[in-house]
Amino acid sequence: MRAILIAGNWKMNPGTLAAASALAQAVKDGLGHDASVHVVLCPASVHLGLVDQILEGSIIGLGAQNMHARPDGAYTGEISGAMLVDLGCTHVILGHSERRHGMGETDTMVNQKLHAALSAGLIPIVCLGETKEERLTDRTEHVLLTQLEGSLAGLEPVQMAKVVLAYEPVWAIGTGLTATPEQAQAAHAFIRNRLTAQFGAATAEHVVVQYGGSVKPDNALELLACPDIDGALVGGASLKADDFLKIITAGREAARRKANS
Ligand code: PGA
Repeated sequence: MRAILIAGNWKMNPGTLAAASALAQAVKDGLGHDASVHVVLCPASVHLGLVDQILEGSIIGLGAQNMHARPDGAYTGEISGAMLVDLGCTHVILGHSERRHGMGETDTMVNQKLHAALSAGLIPIVCLGETKEERLTDRTEHVLLTQLEGSLAGLEPVQMAKVVLAYEPVWAIGTGLTATPEQAQAAHAFIRNRLTAQFGAATAEHVVVQYGGSVKPDNALELLACPDIDGALVGGASLKADDFLKIITAGREAARRKANS
């Protein structure tokens, strides 16, 4: 059975080291040692080092929100995978829609970063998802297919098994709109079918596919209980420790139901 993975994408928040420390500490204290769901915090890069210190001794993973595809060199303002590992990172978010749409990241760039992340020993969380316009014009599956093919190009099944995917419909991110469990499950099942076609059933069954887009305490369980939804990438609600911990509790309940079904 796939473990449920709940990741908090703090984006460019909170505004100070002190607030980031307090948030990480509150999640650590609230989580305890129950390892039935996997938890990762993804603070801003300048907060990674301190958050890593706070998380020491806990079971919480540490993720960056982006990285560069090259291992070193003259890339002003960029951060390599090896630097992230050195800071204590276990995960890295790649191809978030705010980077694809706001900063011009293409599938090819995401693919290069993905290969670099795997080489560095990081677990990549590769984001994909359609815009509102693409959904309304019935192009969701076409968009997902294009993003999957481009972003995952050149991976061997053994590499794919280490990758996490996050289906994040762009229209649901930060908008308060959430995909219904039926919409999300349909997209996740489509993604898993494509993984089966490209990498084989054993690998596809192994890959964790998170849902992201306005996941909140009150909608988390119905989403996480869907058979092909294996976790959540949480933005806004991850900035309040209480809300994030409630989503983790929903993840535990979903894991329990799946184990018994
Ligand atoms: P949201 O963000 O939960 O605030 O919608 C999710 C994300 O961007 O990963």
